[in-house]
Amino acid sequence: MKKSLLIHPEKEHIHRDVEKGKQAVDNTSNSVMIGFRSSVVIGFRSLILFIMIRLVVPIIVVIDFNWYEWNLGSIKSFKPSLLCVQGSKLFFLWAAVALALVTTAKSAWFSDPSYGGRLHQWTDVRLTALTRRHVAKLTDFGGVGDGVTYNTAAFAAAVANLSKVATDGGAMLVVPAGRWLTGPFNLTSHFTLFLESDAVILASQNLEDFPIIAPLPSYGRGRDLPGGRYANVIMGYNLTDVAITGNNGTINGQGQVWWEKYRAKELQHTRGYLVEFMFSNGVLVSNITLMDSPSWNLHPVYCSDVVVSGITITVSSLTSPNTDGINPDSSTNVRILDSYVISGDDCIAIKSGWDQYGIAFNMPSKQIYIKNFTCISPTSATIAIGSEMSGGVEDVHAEDITAINTESAVRIKTGIGRGGYVKQIFAKKMSLHNMKYIFWMTGAYGQHPDDNFDPNAIPVVENINYGDVTAKNVTMVGKLEGLEQSPFTGICLSNVTAEIFVIEKKPIWNCTFVEGVSTGMSPGACAPLKDMGADASTCVP
Ligand SMILES: *[C@@H]1O[C@H](CO)[C@@H](O)[C@H](O)[C@H]1NC(C)=O
Ligand SMILES: *[C@@H]1O[C@H](CO)[C@@H](O)[C@H](O)[C@H]1NC(C)=O
Ligand SMILES: *[C@@H]1O[C@H](CO)[C@@H](O)[C@H](O)[C@H]1NC(C)=O
Ligand SMILES: *[C@@H]1O[C@H](CO)[C@@H](O)[C@H](O)[C@H]1NC(C)=O
Ligand SMILES: *[C@@H]1O[C@H](CO)[C@@H](O)[C@H](O)[C@H]1NC(C)=O
Ligand SMILES: *[C@@H]1O[C@H](CO)[C@@H](O)[C@H](O)[C@H]1NC(C)=O
Ligand SMILES: *[C@@H]1O[C@H](CO)[C@@H](O)[C@H](O)[C@H]1NC(C)=O
Ligand SMILES: *[C@@H]1O[C@H](CO)[C@@H](O)[C@H](O)[C@H]1NC(C)=O
Ligand SMILES: *[C@@H]1O[C@H](CO)[C@@H](O)[C@H](O)[C@H]1NC(C)=O
Repeated sequence: MKKSLLIHPEKEHIHRDVEKGKQAVDNTSNSVMIGFRSSVVIGFRSLILFIMIRLVVPIIVVIDFNWYEWNLGSIKSFKPSLLCVQGSKLFFLWAAVALALVTTAKSAWFSDPSYGGRLHQWTDVRLTALTRRHVAKLTDFGGVGDGVTYNTAAFAAAVANLSKVATDGGAMLVVPAGRWLTGPFNLTSHFTLFLESDAVILASQNLEDFPIIAPLPSYGRGRDLPGGRYANVIMGYNLTDVAITGNNGTINGQGQVWWEKYRAKELQHTRGYLVEFMFSNGVLVSNITLMDSPSWNLHPVYCSDVVVSGITITVSSLTSPNTDGINPDSSTNVRILDSYVISGDDCIAIKSGWDQYGIAFNMPSKQIYIKNFTCISPTSATIAIGSEMSGGVEDVHAEDITAINTESAVRIKTGIGRGGYVKQIFAKKMSLHNMKYIFWMTGAYGQHPDDNFDPNAIPVVENINYGDVTAKNVTMVGKLEGLEQSPFTGICLSNVTAEIFVIEKKPIWNCTFVEGVSTGMSPGACAPLKDMGADASTCVP
């Protein structure tokens, strides 16, 4: 048995977290767990229902007898066991199983890597997205897919119409092949927007089509400029059980006009996002392509139980401003699976509000699980945490991460005034090519919403674990800058092999105000990350 790197008196807290992570090691296959657990739940529920039906049906039958015969005397001859058990045993069993399936369909069991693989129930829209009772096409509502006719009214009419059947099995709106120009529109609950292959939703490039909406409460103002913000192209507000999926159709934000006006400082308000879900529970975005967003591409904010799976996000200009890929923000239980992002900014950025507004709103991002993710982002991070993290970020697990021509692999960005925390971060199995930094932490990130931020709101960064990393052509292995007032602690690096880009003979590490441990590093880590020797075990099991 190897000596655990983390059984180190000063590092007991990391040890605990790693032990927690270790128990989670074999739960990476969520779908298997969901499948297995669902069948257990279905079995259990059908048993309960079967028993209930056996008890309840005789009463119904008694009422029926009275109804038909108006003869109280007949009750005496009533034999419940005969009627309901022997007579129709198979029927009732079948009915119980069917009912159980229906009631189970909206939720699944989810093994949470953040909690040692403990299972809890959650809304998994993957189970309902493709089986809505009502199906309509955009053309039913007057949609025209010629690339020039506006479909804003068609989308609004479709969603308004289909929202009426939300409680009757939900609805799917199919967007057929074609180019469907539109202004912003809202989604509804128990609803699937399905983009067939070669369906392209084209966002209008006319700014007048985008009304100004309120800023996010946890930001206090728009991210680009004070005040409100332009509407998002597609918005889900206050929803439950909502999906955008398809056969890899595209939502194209046609953001070029926004990028130009932003750079020229011609905008009066903050740019909208391509797809935003706010205050929503049970969200699926899968099997589609997002491109050329005005700003961030996919923004679940104040949400829970979100699955992003099999999506491609791309951009026609790698210098497009703030075109982040996927930004979970003040959200819980977010899974980002099998996805690929090419971005002018961070491929994933986990956030939770900005300075005093984020502190007051106090809603963390937690239980974020990222698996099989690929990033290209020459000027930004594969996975960024922050810089807006004032509500806190915790329990982030990432594995099977590939980055190519990207500035950094994982970057933590924060600053004085942010408050909040970043803790319990685990990233492993990262394969990196042509990187400026592998690990980057910045405690002195600027940018405040206004001058009223609290200079005593000092962020806490602790328990940051990275392991099993191979990197080729790297300029710096680690640039880790903690805060003098609040050093970043509990950093653990294990099994990191980096080939250094040798033309510039610059230092490959620079670590200030950080504390932690390391093992299996080639080249070795900076001094503050104490080398625990070759026989130590890993940070991220
Ligand atoms: C809208 O919904 C109603 C039922 O609520 C339905 O009868 C009608 O056909 C729908 N309209 C369109 C254009 O599909
Ligand atoms: C979408 O819903 C939000 C919240 O209800 C509302 O403020 C906004 O005006 C709606 N947008 C559109 C295009 O209907
Ligand atoms: C959103 O839901 C909350 C309750 O959860 C409700 O108070 C609020 O009015 C809803 N807002 C809209 C615009 O539907
Ligand atoms: C989806 O389309 C994008 C480009 O539009 C492509 O890069 C990607 O490979 C496609 N994904 C799948 C699963 O076909
Ligand atoms: C997405 O595509 C994959 C692979 O083609 C498929 O297995 C899955 O069922 C599709 N649908 C959803 C909702 O993810
Ligand atoms: C990883 O994701 C890509 C899409 O980005 C997909 O093509 C591939 O099959 C996935 N790999 C595994 C092992 O699921
Ligand atoms: C190594 O990375 C640098 C930029 O960081 C790039 O210019 C160079 O082409 C890369 N070399 C190889 C062999 O990929
Ligand atoms: C180190 O990481 C590499 C790449 O992820 C992996 O193949 C290897 O098995 C790891 N070694 C140990 C000892 O865990
Ligand atoms: C290391 O980074 C600090 C700032 O965090 C900077 O002041 C210092 O010059 C850097 N050291 C080297 C050797 O680059």
